[in-house]
Amino acid sequence: MTWVRVLLAGELSPTKAARVSCDGRAICVALADGEPRALDDRCPHREVALSGGLVSDGVITCPGHFRRFDLRTGRCLGRAWEQVVSYPCSIEDGWVQVDIGPAAPSRSLREILIAHARGQDIGWPAAPMKPRPVRFGWPAHLGRLRRPGPAERGLPGLGRPRAPLPGTA
Ligand code: FES
Repeated sequence: MTWVRVLLAGELSPTKAARVSCDGRAICVALADGEPRALDDRCPHREVALSGGLVSDGVITCPGHFRRFDLRTGRCLGRAWEQVVSYPCSIEDGWVQVDIGPAAPSRSLREILIAHARGQDIGWPAAPMKPRPVRFGWPAHLGRLRRPGPAERGLPGLGRPRAPLPGTA
């Protein structure tokens, strides 16, 4: 456990979050139920800083694309597979302090790949977002339908067969 004092409790606003930096990590601190809560200040969607979002009822709204995260758990509302890392947080002597835990051991990608090849599970670098299927192209439920042409839609004057030009028939 590594508790770090990050800001005075009186500086926290009920509707805004504060961005603090600890040990090279950006952390978003905000109030939920009157208690300070700390989340990683990086949205799992496109890594926009969550601290720029509005806070309401213990939920922070990402200013990027308005995903909403529960400040108590870090979970995205309506998207259970997306979660932001949350840190234990408390108030002591009027200061908000955050437990940033032990620094993650830094490993090169080579070390990680070798460990996986040996069957050791040392984990990947933080990957809070679960991969999700990406859909491209024409929606499958529309099948091979096409938009009817003007003649099929009964529009007057459009799609009628033309009369042959004089002398060509
Ligand atoms: S970056 Fe947060 S919702 Fe898109």
